[in-house]
Amino acid sequence: MAAEKRSFLVLHGPNLNLLGSREKEIYGDLTLGQIDELIAREAERLGVEVACRQSNSESALLDYIHAAPGDYSGIIINPGAFTHYSIALRDALAGVGLPAVEVHLSNIHAREEFRRTSVIAPVVRGQICGFGARGYLLALQALAETGPE
Ligand code: DQA
Repeated sequence: MAAEKRSFLVLHGPNLNLLGSREKEIYGDLTLGQIDELIAREAERLGVEVACRQSNSESALLDYIHAAPGDYSGIIINPGAFTHYSIALRDALAGVGLPAVEVHLSNIHAREEFRRTSVIAPVVRGQICGFGARGYLLALQALAETGPE
């Protein structure tokens, strides 16, 4: 019997639904739908499954994280502005204990002072920022090609 494919959850936080028209000089021209398509293609190449969700609501993102164990082997999250202050998202990620990668399209460390702090970074495997949509693909590679340890 073939082994079941591992599945990963990709979470996009607030305002990322506006990609493609929002501050293109910072976030690029791709829409979120186009980014999700690239992620799906990369998942196919890597032989894993992926589910992409976006919400502008902190509580919906918390619910997605809480429901992830059992269904998913890891989480890729761009928490948008919640990155900088949501202790609730941080606690949820720490609480479920799945390997997670934080992604940002822009290099948050090269922008305004308030973006340089991530309350999420200490509870994830790693942070990838500054590579645009490619960051999601790198995060998926990192989770798919490393074990659950
Ligand atoms: C972002 C960076 C955040 O500071 C910002 O609030 C976003 C997008 C990024 O992907 O570069 O919404 O997470």
